[in-house]
Amino acid sequence: MKKHEILEKNVGLLALFMVLAVSIGGLVQIVPLFFQQETTQPVEGLKPYTALQLEGRDIYIREGCVGCHSQMVRPFRAETERYGHYSVAGESVWDHPFLWGSKRTGPDLARVGARYSDDWHRAHLYNPRNVVPESKMPAYPWLVENRLDGKDTAAKLKAMKTLGVPYTDDDIGSAADSVKGKTEMDALVAYLQVLGTSLKNKR
Ligand code: HEC
Repeated sequence: MKKHEILEKNVGLLALFMVLAVSIGGLVQIVPLFFQQETTQPVEGLKPYTALQLEGRDIYIREGCVGCHSQMVRPFRAETERYGHYSVAGESVWDHPFLWGSKRTGPDLARVGARYSDDWHRAHLYNPRNVVPESKMPAYPWLVENRLDGKDTAAKLKAMKTLGVPYTDDDIGSAADSVKGKTEMDALVAYLQVLGTSLKNKR
């Protein structure tokens, strides 16, 4: 009996060897990524989110924007013509959790920062139909009424720091005061306006 026949005629053994073969393939592809600078180091010019932007990001998560918007420009001509430079890993090394998403009911937002004015975003989020009549995006009018109290902001920065985001003690100390009294709209717009801007001018 040929050695390979032993494998073919023994389902348990075959399954075991299949798992082994697949995991070696996986390891060869995945493990090197942990050691590649390109995937682990921030791109030049990347700044940690300010306290207000970080609060805005949490509102983005709370409102489920990621369910309709990706933040991942793929390296295809049709995408880069529309959105700008494709996304690179070094742009999101400080995003915990990342918000790349996979659903595009609306446009990709990875490079939306600085594309529109703050006023445009405010009008759009308050009621998208006011600026884009055919829009299917929900309205978020409560964002202009809800105010941040800054109670948890320092703790949020601290949590990010333990995950490797380089916040200073000063950033953490002033976090609460810098967001207190601001509206959720202020925070969300601040977040949107910084998206993708560290790599914006490279085309
Ligand atoms: C049900 C799906 C849906 C959800 C949820 C949603 N959007 Fe949208 N969004 C859209 C669609 C569709 C468009 C395109 C029409 C328009 O501009 O309003 C859009 C457009 C946008 C644009 C303009 C992008 C561009 O390049 O023109 C921004 C910014 C945006 N959305 C932000 C948000 C934010 C922030 C949230 C969460 C508070 C959100 N969206 C939630 C569907 C959605």
